[in-house]
Amino acid sequence: MSTSKTPIFLTGATGYIGGAVLARLLSHPSANTFEITTIVRSAEKAKILKEKFGVNAIVGTHAEHDKIESLAENSHVVFHLADAGDEALLHAILNGLKKRHSKIGDLPILIHTSGTGVLIDDARGEYATDTIHSDINIEQLKSISPTSFHRDVDLAVVDADEKGFARTHIVLPSTIYGIAAHPLAKAGVSNPHSLQIPAITRASLDRKRAGVVGKGLAWWPNVHIDDIAELYIVLFDSSISSPDMTGHGWEGWYYGENGEHHWIDISRAVGKALVELGITDNAEPTSFAVEELPKYFGSEGFGWSFGSNCRCRADRGRALGWKPKYTTQDLVASIKPEVEAFAKKQ
Ligand SMILES: NC(=O)c1ccc[n+]([C@@H]2O[C@H](COP(=O)([O-])OP(=O)(O)OC[C@H]3O[C@@H](n4cnc5c(N)ncnc54)[C@H](OP(=O)(O)O)[C@@H]3O)[C@@H](O)[C@H]2O)c1
Repeated sequence: MSTSKTPIFLTGATGYIGGAVLARLLSHPSANTFEITTIVRSAEKAKILKEKFGVNAIVGTHAEHDKIESLAENSHVVFHLADAGDEALLHAILNGLKKRHSKIGDLPILIHTSGTGVLIDDARGEYATDTIHSDINIEQLKSISPTSFHRDVDLAVVDADEKGFARTHIVLPSTIYGIAAHPLAKAGVSNPHSLQIPAITRASLDRKRAGVVGKGLAWWPNVHIDDIAELYIVLFDSSISSPDMTGHGWEGWYYGENGEHHWIDISRAVGKALVELGITDNAEPTSFAVEELPKYFGSEGFGWSFGSNCRCRADRGRALGWKPKYTTQDLVASIKPEVEAFAKKQ
């Protein structure tokens, strides 16, 4: 390992967010000063990452905590982009960073991924709320419910910063949309599809009618995949070049949004695409029956989250210079290609 290069460990290289961020790192103006390592489950994808993209891809899983710990220990920067909810995995990363700090005195940087889902209510699609969160409002961040999604993981990230062995940042993407078109997605290495819109799309294709939770009246924020990847890079650049100007710990939470939609907007666009593709003759969405929620979303509880309110503003990222380009109109326009892609897979 060349000592002049910045060692970076990235999780989730084969995923939607991880692939998009890795692609941006590979085309970064300082890319030749990075030594990027990742851990992937597929030996075939590891080979492509190594041979085609020059990434040191280790074959392994997130359950191999010793391996993860040592990869984190060897890195000045960790992009954790794979799994917001795996507490043991996060602790393996933190253990590695702690060892690095105590052995060589480096203050490593962790850029962790959470999600605006930490803010949701239980509206079940029946109403819109007025409460809007800001990531520069620390008291609001501290008051997020202890029972919200992966709260323990997010608090452990902040705790590491407060203990002083790492400088930590948390990116909280909202509904990410758009089919990824960067070189890693094109090479079949990373997943080109997001989570929420594809889930509604697959369900709607299966029932041959667009579905919505309740009346779809609640709000959610959204962000394009290229814009969220850019937020990670703006944060990374700032954390490297101006650490004292870059919020970390409790001041290091970064919502990722550039607009809001109602859930019904997504379902209506899915319905319109279903009609245009000749899959149904009625574009109007119908409410999912309670029994459909576990079928299409994994559990009834998770299904209801597709009717929740979640409202926030990405004030901290914008203050760092992040300028997202895509808007809610782009989200709506992204839906037909998504429906077409999943219709072909059926
Ligand atoms: N997409 C969104 O709109 C969004 C918004 C906010 C937050 N998030 C959160 O961000 C995280 C990543 O989301 P994503 O959309 O990028 O998901 P994704 O496309 O499914 O990517 C997940 C990544 O994690 C890897 N992975 C999962 N379990 C693993 C294991 N046991 N060992 C090794 N690798 C493993 C996957 O590898 P394989 O390729 O081998 O499966 C893949 O690289 C998730 O926690 C998600 O909840 C996503």
